[in-house]
Amino acid sequence: MKEGTAISLNGRIVEVPKGATVAAALLQHGAGSRVSISGEARQPLCGMGICFECRASVNGRAHQLTCQLVCEPGMVVVTE
Ligand code: FES
Repeated sequence: MKEGTAISLNGRIVEVPKGATVAAALLQHGAGSRVSISGEARQPLCGMGICFECRASVNGRAHQLTCQLVCEPGMVVVTE
């Protein structure tokens, strides 16, 4: 059995590989990270904390850099 971590992504429980970043979880499950002010869907880009394109709400805290966070069991991630 594949070992993974279960998180809540936009209200849905999803399984991600153990040690995956939240940004990787977003990409794995086809969720954009946010919507720009002009309505354009955005995705994680740099993967190293520079572009800020991966921002999402994590455990109730808005605008977290998901590429810098490793998924923890029970983590709640909400994108726009
Ligand atoms: S992907 Fe660029 S800051 Fe996270």
